[in-house]
Amino acid sequence: MIIKTVELETVCGITSKLPDNTKPEFAFAGKSNVGKSSLINALMNRKAYARTSSQPGKTQTINFYNINDALYYVDLPGYGYAKVAQEVKAKWGKMIENYLHQSPMLKRVFLLIDIRHDPSVNDKTMYDWIVYNGYQPVIIATKLDKINRSQVQKHMKMVRQGLGIGQAVTVIPFSAETKQGRDEIWALIEEMMGE
Ligand code: GTP
Ligand code: MG
Repeated sequence: MIIKTVELETVCGITSKLPDNTKPEFAFAGKSNVGKSSLINALMNRKAYARTSSQPGKTQTINFYNINDALYYVDLPGYGYAKVAQEVKAKWGKMIENYLHQSPMLKRVFLLIDIRHDPSVNDKTMYDWIVYNGYQPVIIATKLDKINRSQVQKHMKMVRQGLGIGQAVTVIPFSAETKQGRDEIWALIEEMMGE
């Protein structure tokens, strides 16, 4: 994908109305710190346009990035961030749920899983949620650079088994450091734009 323009066009908090976008949306979900904003930067060819942090809980709003005036990348707040009060967590959960429910232009949801770890109960719940809402999830196994090459197959299997998914679901290993996997994700998005 050739990135010509990127713009953070809409930022939605708990009480904001969702935008009535007319271009396809691609959303990125996953637990806090898994690398959603880093992946979005890689897919925008920008170093730090989307704010990232080594501290979990950085993205606390739903951020719509307009790409080439042709599509949107949607950066979602992470789940499972322990330091946030239960009440706030519930509101974020509702906000994400609401977005998944009511977005006619949402084409696909990418679910990010840290390749190093077994998917959590929350990851599995999120996966089921995406399916329940009628979306076909694409799994991105993030932080690929953090494991040894010889361990990749084993960890990919772990991700599949943890989520309980078969070969029909796409799992793409990705590193925001090396950008490995980026072309494959771009190709998928371009393919899905036409659907
Ligand atoms: P929240 O906004 O808190 O939900 O987190 P997020 O999922 O947006 O994660 P973010 O992109 O902010 O990344 C979290 C941390 O992981 C940052 O310190 C990133 O630099 C690091 N990180 C993200 N992706 C990778 C990767 O592929 N490899 C390595 N080594 N570090 C990564
Ligand atoms: Mg983020």
